[in-house]
Amino acid sequence: MNEKTILITGASSGIGRACAEFLTQKGYRVFGTTRREDLVGENHRGSGFELISMDVADRESVARAVRKIIAKAGGIDIIINNAGMGIAGSIEDTSYEEAKMQFDTNFFGCMNVINEVLPHMRKRGSGVIINIGSVAGYISIPFQAMYSSTKAALQSMTFSLRNEVAPFNIKISIVHPGDLRTNFTQNRKRSESAIPGSPYFERMERSIAVMERDEQNGGDPVCVARTIFRILKRKSPPVAVTVGFKYKFVAFLLRIVPAKLREKAVASIYA
Ligand SMILES: NC(=O)c1ccc[n+]([C@@H]2O[C@H](COP(=O)([O-])OP(=O)(O)OC[C@H]3O[C@@H](n4cnc5c(N)ncnc54)[C@H](OP(=O)(O)O)[C@@H]3O)[C@@H](O)[C@H]2O)c1
Repeated sequence: MNEKTILITGASSGIGRACAEFLTQKGYRVFGTTRREDLVGENHRGSGFELISMDVADRESVARAVRKIIAKAGGIDIIINNAGMGIAGSIEDTSYEEAKMQFDTNFFGCMNVINEVLPHMRKRGSGVIINIGSVAGYISIPFQAMYSSTKAALQSMTFSLRNEVAPFNIKISIVHPGDLRTNFTQNRKRSESAIPGSPYFERMERSIAVMERDEQNGGDPVCVARTIFRILKRKSPPVAVTVGFKYKFVAFLLRIVPAKLREKAVASIYA
């Protein structure tokens, strides 16, 4: 049995849930989080992991959940910052409040969890943090700009943090999934002004339809769990990992193709 304790944010569905189930089976003690009080409890749906209440965008809620895990398990060895959602709409149709909500969850949510747990990890002199990014963090997708921006910002924070906490023996990686079949598609919000009459409406609808089709035809989220398990087994975790051969190939092409050509390719797929 592996005695290590893992905190996975957003473990009620999709990637977070797949990771929680998979890593529980591998012998880790897993605490997942949800905002849904009806799901909170031990042995979530017989899977052996515990779901506790946390809204990553609410610092007090994060602090409460972290205190609870430490009281129960004695510490947190690994964080998987997974909770997230997407807002669709052109930048012009997106309000400050909507953009802020997107960043509060996908970016500041990770920062809240990291900052709450880091003091414990520093004291113990060990820890692993895995941030869930997205291929959309390095291919900026039209009409999903705020989402892409949160993931790009998360990657940037990951790179800085690696250097900052290296002397405390705390390791950080970012994992970039491509399109996967989860509730992300149903949970996607549209900005309130992204409605008929907006000069962007038709193109946005076409673009979102492509994203939704790709997500619903995407892979099983357990592939992310397998990637994370492999990272956890490594003495020196990689900086960033893209999940799946197809997306690794896309990441490679992006590195060698000129920016103008990249833009044309994205436009032909989405805009
Ligand atoms: N699906 C894909 O194609 C894809 C691709 C690349 C990256 N990703 C990333 O993968 C992560 C997980 O997404 P998913 O595809 O598994 O979507 P999902 O099925 O919709 O799951 C999202 C999870 O995040 C939680 N969540 C959302 N907002 C939260 C908040 N403010 N506080 C706490 N928990 C919150 C939800 O929990 P509750 O609602 O129960 O609170 C849920 O468990 C996200 O960061 C997403 O950006 C997904």
